[in-house]
Amino acid sequence: MTSLTSNPQIYTTDKHTAIVEVENLVYAYPQQPPVLDHINLKLNVGDRVALMGATGSGKSTLLENLMGLKQPQSGKIKINGVTLTPKTLPHIRKQIGFSFQDANDQLFMPTILEDITFGPRNYGISPIVAKDKAEQLLAEFGLEQYAHRSAHELSGGQRRLAALASILALEPTILVLDEPTTGLDPLWRKQLAQILLQLSVQVILIASHDLHWLGKVTERGLVLTGGKINIDSNLTTLLQDNMTLEKLGLPVDW
Ligand SMILES: Nc1ncnc2c1ncn2[C@@H]1O[C@H](COP(=O)(O)OP(=O)(O)O)[C@@H](O)[C@H]1O
Ligand SMILES: [Mg+2]
Repeated sequence: MTSLTSNPQIYTTDKHTAIVEVENLVYAYPQQPPVLDHINLKLNVGDRVALMGATGSGKSTLLENLMGLKQPQSGKIKINGVTLTPKTLPHIRKQIGFSFQDANDQLFMPTILEDITFGPRNYGISPIVAKDKAEQLLAEFGLEQYAHRSAHELSGGQRRLAALASILALEPTILVLDEPTTGLDPLWRKQLAQILLQLSVQVILIASHDLHWLGKVTERGLVLTGGKINIDSNLTTLLQDNMTLEKLGLPVDW
């Protein structure tokens, strides 16, 4: 498959330049103990990172904090050296493509073609260029014949692909995906992996418990348990350590 989504930018920055920095992040839902309990994390240029952890461990909460969708009680998030604040949020959002765990949160226009052109149009891209790009993405995600349908006429997996297309239309430099394989059949899990591997972005961070798939798309594995990142290691090595994964609530092959 040829990629139509590759970002043409080439990143020559030092490999150890931190793109995403999280310092002592604490987040608690009202009247509950912290879900994120002093999280420290650095994602560098070129990192392809899996964020794993049992259901309810706080993966989505962490990603939503990174996107400024939730405000931590304490701690700091920096994106490309800029601290996330209400003032810097619009600038930071432009750099990050984020797909929600629930694709329905992402698709709100009358047709999916409009969903995919919405972001670029908002950023001042001309209607013709935005439509061309959207059509390329629809083709890449096998959705051409659904261009003029509304998202609620699509299957769950197709909605997921449409949501991903709408994110890639903005050519983000940082990609943050929450459970991107939900609802996808093996063929589309494979195709999505190929699309993601061909992208030229600074950082990819993917929350998922689809361990086998993560092993094909990412290289660094983080495991969130008890509000902390307890494991940060080479993913291939981690995926061979069944005992550790089992202990962390991530039994392999289940
Ligand atoms: N809106 C909310 N209000 C209160 N608690 C929540 C809310 N959303 C999530 N939680 C709780 O926070 C914890 C982490 O949730 P979440 O980040 O969605 O986990 P994960 O994505 O790892 O499955 C869970 O215990 C969940 O019940
Ligand atoms: Mg989640």
